[in-house]
Amino acid sequence: MSAVLAVDDLVAGYVADLPIVTGVSMTLSPGELVTIIGPNGAGKSTLVKAIAGLVTVMGGRVRLEGNDITGIQTHRLPRSGVGYVAQSSNVFTSLTVHENLRVASHTLGAERAERLADAYEMFPDLKRYRDQKGRVLSGGQRQMLALGMALVCRPRVILLDEPSAGLAPAIVQDVFSRLRALADSGLALLMVEQNARAALQLSDRGYVMAEGAAKIEGPANDLLADPKVAEIYLGTRRAS
Ligand SMILES: Nc1ncnc2c1ncn2[C@@H]1O[C@H](COP(=O)(O)OP(=O)(O)OP(=O)(O)O)[C@@H](O)[C@H]1O
Ligand SMILES: [Mg+2]
Repeated sequence: MSAVLAVDDLVAGYVADLPIVTGVSMTLSPGELVTIIGPNGAGKSTLVKAIAGLVTVMGGRVRLEGNDITGIQTHRLPRSGVGYVAQSSNVFTSLTVHENLRVASHTLGAERAERLADAYEMFPDLKRYRDQKGRVLSGGQRQMLALGMALVCRPRVILLDEPSAGLAPAIVQDVFSRLRALADSGLALLMVEQNARAALQLSDRGYVMAEGAAKIEGPANDLLADPKVAEIYLGTRRAS
């Protein structure tokens, strides 16, 4: 299937002449869940932020369904078809659940009420906490709210930076199952994860990033079975 998101030789960073992401190419097809793993400081978040227009792109291209969205202004992302779920502070804690969803859907027109209703149907917890402030939500509920906020604009692609960070193991599976189900419904999801094994087990493909570059890529099962990947990134390294 042709790619919905295509990243070509992307170079990006925070300071001029000091790229952190040094030439990454990747693709994402509809219905795919793709996970990026790699050590701390590899540039995983920087890559996703660069795709989302949050970090300066110094070279290369990002295309969404063939349209160039390189360096897109972040506030235009949702309408262009890309949802971005940041690693932390991804909901407004001083606003209620409903207010958060209203902020996320403010660019919508007549379809807004229906989209909000869809979000509540998909995440019953959000309905239960509709008038509660974001700050009272559990970690898992916050991730569901952040995901709901990304979904209200009906994206074709969702970018997620460590959606399982800080969650209890049982909740991690909950969140990952949601992501898998969204992919199965045709959405394309690109996520960065530290929880490498659990993420790859539910993913179609994966990329291993190190030092600002995608060093290894392949079907998730191949990465899980690769002894080099397993030793370094999947926690099978023996204590010496
Ligand atoms: N706001 C920033 N300004 C300058 N440098 C930054 C900034 N954020 C990150 N960096 C640097 O960019 C490099 C890559 O960081 P990045 O956050 O992309 O890594 P990561 O792979 O997401 O790591 P982690 O697994 O710890 O989340 C690091 O050297 C980091 O110090
Ligand atoms: Mg990161």
